[in-house]
Amino acid sequence: TEFPASGARGLGAVDLRVRVRVPAKVNLALRVAARGDDGYHQLATVFQAVALFDELTAERRRDDAITVTTRGLHAHRVDDDPTNLAVRAAVALRHHFGTADLGVHLSIDKSIPVAGGMAGGSADAAASLLACSVLWDLDTTPDDLVQLAADIGSDVPFELVGGTALGRGRGGDVMPALARGNYHWVLALSDRGLSTPSVYACFDEQVDAGKVVPLRPDDPDACTALLDALASGDAARVAPLLGNDLQEAACQLRPELREVLAAGTAAGALAGIVSGSGPTCAFLCASQPDAYLVQTVLRSLEQVDETLCVTSPAPGAQLVVS
Ligand code: C5P
Repeated sequence: TEFPASGARGLGAVDLRVRVRVPAKVNLALRVAARGDDGYHQLATVFQAVALFDELTAERRRDDAITVTTRGLHAHRVDDDPTNLAVRAAVALRHHFGTADLGVHLSIDKSIPVAGGMAGGSADAAASLLACSVLWDLDTTPDDLVQLAADIGSDVPFELVGGTALGRGRGGDVMPALARGNYHWVLALSDRGLSTPSVYACFDEQVDAGKVVPLRPDDPDACTALLDALASGDAARVAPLLGNDLQEAACQLRPELREVLAAGTAAGALAGIVSGSGPTCAFLCASQPDAYLVQTVLRSLEQVDETLCVTSPAPGAQLVVS
C-alpha cells in the first residue's frame, strides 16, 4: 500500500507542526454477513472517498501529554477527551514505537459530520496516525500505519488509502480498486447522528427475523459487478449497483430516511443510498447541474438539516505543505 507519507518523512525531524487533510467516505456497496463470534460482522464493501475534508494539525508539546481541540462546522459533536479517535490513534502509535515521552496537541477543523456514516471519526484517527508519525519522525511505513489503523476502527485503514477500494474482513482489509471518471454526489445530512453499534444490532434482529439475507462471508463475487461498472467510469452503470445491507436497519431506526431517499430520486438522482450506518443519505447524479437540482429539492425538506454537493473519488490522508 502506498500513500504520500513516506515522501515527506524526512521533514519530520525539523517540523514542529504538521498538517494533514483527510476525506469523508461513502460505501458504494456494503454487504454484511451475520454477526461472528468476535461480535463483529464480516463485510464486503466498496469504499469511495469524497471531496469533503477534515484538516488536522499536530504540534509538538514540551510535555508528554496528548491533547485535542476541535473547531469547524461539526466541532460541537466531537468529544475533547481520551476516547476521541484521533487521540487514541496517537496513543496507539506512541505505544507501538515505545516512545512514551512524546507529546502532541491535535487541532481538528471538522467538516465531516460525526456519527454520520461517513467515517468522520475514523478520518481523524487516520490523519492523526500520519501527522504524528511525521511530527515525531518515527520510522514507519505505510503498511505499518495501515496495520495500526485496523486496531483503532474498521474504517481507519481506508481513510489512509483513499480513492476507491474494496474492503473485506471487518472492513479494514483494504485493496485499492480501479475506478475511472469522477462522480457527482449530493449528501443529505442530519444533525442527529446514528450509533453504529445500534444499527448493527438492528441489522442482527432483521437477520434473525428472516427479513434480511446476510452475506456469505466467503462470497468472492459480492462486489464484482459494481467494481466492473466503476472501471467503466459510467455513472449510469454504477447507479443501479449501489446498495447497503445496513440501509433497512438505518431506516427502521430513522423512518424519515425513506422519505429523503424517495425525494432525492424523484428529483432526478440516478440513485440514493444511506451511507454506511447512516443517517447521511448519498445521491449519485449524472452531472453537476443535476446535482444542484437535487440539492435544491433536498434542501427544502424538513427531514434534512444540511446538504452538500461533492465529487469523488478523493485522495486519502495527505500532508498539507504550507
Ligand atoms: O470498528 P469500529 O470501531 O468502527 O466499529 C464500531 C462498531 O460497529 C463495533 O463496535 C461493532 O458493534 C460494529 N461493527 C461490526 N462489524 C464491523 C464493523 C463494525 O459489528 N465489521
